[in-house]
Amino acid sequence: MKTIIEPFRIKMVEPIRMTSELERTEILQRAGMNVFLIPAQEVLIDLLTDSGTSAMSSEQWAGIMRGDESYAGATSWYRFEKVMHEITGMPYILPTHQGRASERILFELIGGPGKVIPNNNHFDTTRANIEYSGAEAVDLVIDEAADPNNLHPFKGNLDLRKLENLITHYGPKAIPLCMITITNNRGGGQPVSLENIRKVHQVTKDYGIPLYLDACRFAENAAFIQQRESGYADRSIREIVKEIFSLAEGATISAKKDGLVNIGGVLLLRNESLAAKANNLLILSEGFVTYGGLAGRDLEAMAQGFQETLEKDYLLYRLRSIAYLGNHLTQIGIPIVQPTGGHAIYIDAKSFCAHIPPYQFPGQALVCALYRYAGIRAVEIGTLMFGQANETPESIPKERMELVRLAIPRRVYTQSHIDYVIEALGEIFAKRETLSGLKIVSAPSILRHFTARLQEITPTNPPRN
Ligand code: F0G
Repeated sequence: MKTIIEPFRIKMVEPIRMTSELERTEILQRAGMNVFLIPAQEVLIDLLTDSGTSAMSSEQWAGIMRGDESYAGATSWYRFEKVMHEITGMPYILPTHQGRASERILFELIGGPGKVIPNNNHFDTTRANIEYSGAEAVDLVIDEAADPNNLHPFKGNLDLRKLENLITHYGPKAIPLCMITITNNRGGGQPVSLENIRKVHQVTKDYGIPLYLDACRFAENAAFIQQRESGYADRSIREIVKEIFSLAEGATISAKKDGLVNIGGVLLLRNESLAAKANNLLILSEGFVTYGGLAGRDLEAMAQGFQETLEKDYLLYRLRSIAYLGNHLTQIGIPIVQPTGGHAIYIDAKSFCAHIPPYQFPGQALVCALYRYAGIRAVEIGTLMFGQANETPESIPKERMELVRLAIPRRVYTQSHIDYVIEALGEIFAKRETLSGLKIVSAPSILRHFTARLQEITPTNPPRN
């Protein structure tokens, strides 16, 4: 059989509230053309993020009931610790409330002024935590990642030549660790090959620099290795995952992605003295070492989720359902970042809305059209998210991509939901010239995309005030 089915059946449902285009036009106006300001119940299909939006399994819910809420040494903690140890082989396992809490603890310990941290692409919160510590965050992804049409199978790879140059430039003492994000969320959810991780490990080891992973989507990355990297087709996902972690000195993980839970995170460490210091910071702000920032029931759900995420049928369905969306969009001519990544489809809005210049936010124009036309919520990853208030139309970097991310929550939507998304995008694509650019009416100075208010550019709302 060629058809790959969802490897689960549905036991509990959550109704979606239907709205009309007229209602959504008003909702969008009230939200200042910013989908972050729309109440979730006004959204039909929510593709804002794959983080914390998974559907849990019956075994996870059973774990929730079993959760041991003892302050110290809870049974749920020992179960979680054992599972994480078995999967990753890491000796020190610290539970946190989500990924950025693990990042904050790590960079408070090893960051600081004068330090430089390389990564393929730092995710926003990782960069923010590094910069907050006074250190510098540098992106070293391979050049192929900047071309949406390049079909490189591991576009998340870190460029070894750029890494060597960085080490020569700053000296190894300025680099307390090198990170690799698997999969590379900022770069289109693209995977990193085991060959690349091994080579980065070799280079950093030669200079005495430890390698860390931002491993939020390690299971999806391992599945890509199994499917695309030669020599791994017959290796199990668990073996591949073990090999990935064997090359790392530590890892930060948000369990809200591949952990299949709604809240939770982990910090994994190999070094005993660093782990002792991290435990002190954990107690200071998250909680005692056997629960971190979580309840016992959350640890149970994570212990179960991290095992389910490694199941062959689950990963096959997961990657195939993202590819299904990507392939259909490509067939109808919609430009997306190729090849399809692990958790989302990234539409190339620069090309989709070629008539809207970057300073009029082509990605946001498409995000608004998707919501107004079909009630679908996506997110802009372009000039609205990364632009600065003092940017002029001329100073916007030409290499900046204008993307719209359709992130797919795990085990939540069925194929007909995805068919609806494909149809909506096809219809918007057919009338794309009618989409208007936008201008900012008000915005805060940092992380402006969350709360900015915008207005469509029409004859009554001309581009410049
Ligand atoms: N690292 C990566 C690669 C991420 O994608 C995220 C979160 C984090 C770290 C931080 O984890 O949210 O648990 O604190 N990404 C979400 C997203 C928010 O929508 O892509 P967190």
